[in-house]
Amino acid sequence: MRRAIALLLLTGLACSAKAVYADTEELQILLQRNNCTACHMIDKRKYGPKLNEVAQKYADESGAAEKLAKKIKAGGTGVWGEDIMPPQAQVTDADARTMAKLILLLK
Ligand code: HEC
Repeated sequence: MRRAIALLLLTGLACSAKAVYADTEELQILLQRNNCTACHMIDKRKYGPKLNEVAQKYADESGAAEKLAKKIKAGGTGVWGEDIMPPQAQVTDADARTMAKLILLLK
């Protein structure tokens, strides 16, 4: 019985780890497809802020996904310093929303 419970727990852990991995992998694909990787990495600073730091900054902010989805398309400056993120007109609304959600999951 105890072994069955341990097995169940392990399976649960493995599944949630896999889900997190799948989200990160989907994000990587979208970032590459939309050319975000020219300036952003998930855990290293490039020209733009680290995306896991972005997730931490907005962890407790309601409406953050909407806000970031808009910023992803419009670009902007002043939140992370003086550097400018140019508008990303190539990004579809759907991709912008998905990336914003997946970025927020990195926290
Ligand atoms: C030419 C470089 C460049 C490209 C390409 C770029 N970014 Fe950025 N990004 C930046 C810079 C610089 C900032 C910081 C802007 C600021 O301080 O307001 C930023 C900020 C962000 C933020 C945080 C916004 C905030 O207000 O906190 C997100 C999220 C983001 N970028 C996502 C993306 C995604 C997704 C793409 C691809 C569609 C992308 N970026 C493409 C340079 C870039």
